[in-house]
Parts: sequence; structure tokens; C-alpha cells
Amino acid sequence: MFDAQVYVSRRNGLQRQFQDGLLLFLGNADAPMNYAANTYHFRQDSSFLYYWGVDDPDLVAILDVDAGRHVIYGDDFTVDDIVWRGPQPTLAERAARAGVIETGPLKDLPRLLSEAIRAGRRIHFLPQYRADNAQLLERLLGIRAEAVNEHASVALCRAVVSQRAIKGTEEIAEIERALEVSRDMHILAMRMARAGMYEREVVGAMEGLVAARGVAMAFPVIFSVHGETLHNHYHGNRMEAGQMTVNDSGAESPLHYASDITRTIPIGGRFEGPQRDLYQAVHRAQKKAIEAVKPGVRFRDVHLLACRSLAEDLKAIGLMKGDLDAAIEQGAHGMFFQCGLGHMLGLDVHDMEGLGEQHVGYDASVLRSTQFGLKSLRMARTLEPGMVMTVEPGIYLIPVLIDRWRAEGKFAEFLDYDAIERFRAFGGIRLEDDVLVTEAGNRVLGQPIPIEMEEVEALARQ
Ligand code: GLY
Ligand code: MN
Ligand code: MN
Repeated sequence: MFDAQVYVSRRNGLQRQFQDGLLLFLGNADAPMNYAANTYHFRQDSSFLYYWGVDDPDLVAILDVDAGRHVIYGDDFTVDDIVWRGPQPTLAERAARAGVIETGPLKDLPRLLSEAIRAGRRIHFLPQYRADNAQLLERLLGIRAEAVNEHASVALCRAVVSQRAIKGTEEIAEIERALEVSRDMHILAMRMARAGMYEREVVGAMEGLVAARGVAMAFPVIFSVHGETLHNHYHGNRMEAGQMTVNDSGAESPLHYASDITRTIPIGGRFEGPQRDLYQAVHRAQKKAIEAVKPGVRFRDVHLLACRSLAEDLKAIGLMKGDLDAAIEQGAHGMFFQCGLGHMLGLDVHDMEGLGEQHVGYDASVLRSTQFGLKSLRMARTLEPGMVMTVEPGIYLIPVLIDRWRAEGKFAEFLDYDAIERFRAFGGIRLEDDVLVTEAGNRVLGQPIPIEMEEVEALARQ
């Protein structure tokens, strides 16, 4: 955990954003795999971790704004629990590490909350993404589980986003700790991936490396010769010489801060033919986009700059044609780049996505587009110092999209369908790094991870 003062000052900062009411935070419970005692790897809720620090299941915290009380509710382990799990610190000891001096048993919660409801006090809670927590809210607040998110507090979401979006130096250090592991994973994958091997062998080696460092993956590994599928979690393909494998993977730090890195590996040790031009196109777009990241710039404009760069190269290669300003305005580049340039990164890999992307990436100054491609941009608003963004352009040739758009004659003035047809088995290329917005501009976080075409080839030949 961070120093207790970090959590105290985060909670005080949150409290100052409210006049009155209760701020209710639900920690996560263990999630059963196939029976109650056989559970998935435990992951605490990120906002709970941010304000309350305690990384254990079955906790609820309340910040009473009127009384200025910060309390964690939970139950101490019984002797029976300790027989199975070994000695455990008390709740009071665990809470004290986050500067929380008041604790109470879970059985106190129903009465406390029903009294608050009777007194007409506002109870703010965040949107829920786990069914058991939605049910807990139903029991505590009398709101139907299916409807709890309609009653989630927009004020609390905005207040939490305002704090979590701006990372402190201790948080940046954690992200860089995660990146040390990710760097080793990616270098391992570049060295290991070769023709005749199955994707799962490399994925297993990366997972082993992460486990041996005592941390976890920040998200399920995306590793596939079918890199055109944006989030491809199938790892059963045999890799063949001449293919490319997209490796989008990242470890968490010990305090659960994420890293999110993508590299594209040439199987056989050399990017062949048009792979070389398209790899350079993605790399150029990434370099231009990173250069543009600075305070005061809208991330939507950085995204569009990357789209422009990709489109210029795609035109030079002969896959796009016509007036590129009009093509980008209308979204024709969505044939090759179907998603957004990046997202915030922090305790969640898509940071705070569970609070609602409209609160994280958008505000009154920039509305979400409905255009294919641009609508998937998770972050559009103005960058501020302390934000951490991923910058992850890509080029993806998706056969079903080629067929659909061609049949519709869509964007025929901007897309050379005969040329595109020759690329239908191309796959995909993505390059992704994690970038801190600084007062002066930006800093790519972590030690450099090989990305120049020649350095990746050299590692892939080893
Ligand atoms: N790792 C998923 C993403 O890049 O957004
Ligand atoms: Mn990402
Ligand atoms: Mn990624």
C-alpha cells in the first residue's frame, strides 16, 4: 500500500467536493468459478483501492460528508477461517494502513443505511459491474438489483474521475513498475515466437513470467496471428513464417496499476513486402500522435492526426484515394482503423470505464460521435498534466468489413477495393505505448520497449 497519508488526502479531496450525504463504496467479493470455495483470482474494485486501500474481499466503506467520518465495514476472520487461511490481520489493522481509524461489522450497515434513507439523506454510489454487488445494494437500499445503475450518482462519478484522472508521482511510479514487467514479457515474446509454434506457448510463457514476478495481468492477453480481430483472445493458431502476431498485453503493478503495451512481431524474423510499409505507417502515426500529446490539446484531435497520418500512407500504398480531408471527415479510414487511438490508463487498463466513458473521456466541450470508428474513441476531451494515455494506432484488414462495405459501394471514391482485396489475408498491426501528459508536453512511460522495425526483427530472429 501507499503511505496512509495518500489515502487520507484522496478521501479529504473527495469529501470537499460534496456539501452533504453519504458516499458509499462497495469492495469486491471473491467470485466463485465452479463452487463457492473455488474462486477466481481476487481483484479489488479500483475505486475502493484508490480511496480505501484495503485489498481484501467483503468490505464496504462509507464516507459520511456531514459528520466527516470515514468508516470501513467488514468482519474479522473467525478461528474457523484462520484454520483454513492462516493468521490474518484484523480489520482495524488493515484499515489503519489507509489512515482509516473507524471500522464496524457488516451487520451494522442495513440499519445505518435505512436510517439515512428515512432521514432523507442522499446516498451516493458508483455504477456496479458485478451482480453480487448490485444485489447487495438491493438489500441495503431497496433498489431493484437490475435498476441500481439508473440510480448511480453522476456527482460521485464526476468527483471520482476528477481525482483518479490526474495521477500522482506515486501512481506514475507504480505504472512504471508494471511496465518493467511488461517490457520483459514483450521482449520474451519477440524472442520466442517462431514458425511452427502455437500462440498459446508464447502466451503461457508470458503468463509464467508475470506470475513469477508476483503480479497479475492487467487484462487477458491479446496475442494472435489474426491481429485484425481487435481483442483476439484465441491462442490456438500455429504461427507460420511470413505471418505477423499482434501482442497486446500488460502486467499490473503490485498495487494494481495497469500497463498496456502492443507490439507486432514478424514470424520468421522479417517483415515481408507490404508488411514493411504498413508497419512503418502505423509507427509513423504513433510517433506523430505522441508528439502531439500535451496539455490543452484535445485527445480527439490527436486521434484525428493519427488517422490523417495513416490515411496519407494508405493513399501512398494505393489502398486509399481521393481527397483525404473529405475521406477522414466522412470516416472512410474506418476500413483500416476501426477503433479509437487510446484511452486513459491507471488502476484499470481502460481507466474508470466502469464509471461511464461519458464522464471519463467526454465533457460539454466534446460530444461523442456516432460515426463508425470515431464512436469507439474512449477519450476525446482536453489533456491535462498528470493524465496517462495509451497511444495505439493500428491497421486492420477485416474480411467481413471489406465484403460488407464493398457490397454497399461504401466510400468507393476513397477506397480502392481491388487493391484492398489483395490484402484480405494481411491481418493487423498495432503499436501501443503508455504516455504521461506533463506540464511541458509528455513522457513515454517505462524503459523503451523495442519498436523500430529492425530491432523487432533482430529479436525475432534470435
Ligand atoms: N489492451 C486493450 C487495449 O489496448 O485497449
Ligand atoms: Mn490500450
Ligand atoms: Mn492494449
